[in-house]
Amino acid sequence: MGSKYIMESKGLNVGYGPIHVIYDLDFKVPDGEVTIIVGPNGVGKTTLLKAVMGLATVYSGSVHFNGEDISDWQPYERTMAGIGYMPQTGNIFSKLSVAENLKMAAYTMNDPDLVEDKREFVYSLFPRLKDFLPRAAGTLSGGERQMLAEGMVLMRDPKIMMVDEPTAGLMPKLVNDVMRQLAAMAEETGLPIVLVEQRARRALAVGDYSYLMRGGKFTFEGTASDLLAHPLLDEMYLGAVEVHDLDVKE
Ligand SMILES: Nc1ncnc2c1ncn2[C@@H]1O[C@H](COP(=O)(O)OP(=O)(O)OP(=O)(O)O)[C@@H](O)[C@H]1O
Ligand SMILES: [Mg+2]
Repeated sequence: MGSKYIMESKGLNVGYGPIHVIYDLDFKVPDGEVTIIVGPNGVGKTTLLKAVMGLATVYSGSVHFNGEDISDWQPYERTMAGIGYMPQTGNIFSKLSVAENLKMAAYTMNDPDLVEDKREFVYSLFPRLKDFLPRAAGTLSGGERQMLAEGMVLMRDPKIMMVDEPTAGLMPKLVNDVMRQLAAMAEETGLPIVLVEQRARRALAVGDYSYLMRGGKFTFEGTASDLLAHPLLDEMYLGAVEVHDLDVKE
């Protein structure tokens, strides 16, 4: 059959114990496209990704992935099923070498040929990683670390990749590189990507579908180009200008 959507959630209510963060959210991810979620600090973007991974308390609602209801699945089962997740923080082992990080990322995979294939693929996407193999991952620059973190997700041969604020803490100069890298990866692999970003304009420029999140709800859903042209986007900046770097609009 093959649905247009690789992931679909309906009526999601999510939080942490008693703290309710996400309200009655419907969320769909078109297959093979880049979906961008933007919104100011603390509105629930990370919480939504955690709900999809089974890492937050889902009070009600469902998560479907690849046509299956995975709402009751454990986080590791979701990972094994092909949901790739690059968390906002703590996404590498800084004391381990780059080579060890890549090895750790694949440790649940039992097909050595596939692991080799994936390793070669990661090197082809990020050739510089190869030069860093013996180095402790904690000594990499922000942008290099980001490549490693993405590479680690790709080692597991995901069917979708969810990336939480890959440009956080990066020099403005590097932001476009990271975005371009992601867009190139999407293009090359056809992998559906969910990208959470506060640098809304730059992310939307590489996106197909998009959501704007405020207060645990979506206040806009539609094509990335429609959101780029929408007054709600400017409003988001006005509300949150102090938390953005000031070069956002260029
Ligand atoms: N483990 C937790 N326990 C309790 N509350 C939490 C927890 N994690 C997040 N929150 C709260 O949930 C709300 C949404 O947080 P979330 O991390 O989803 O925001 P965000 O949109 O990703 O923000 P940012 O852009 O700053 O990363 C915030 O009010 C936050 O303080
Ligand atoms: Mg977040």
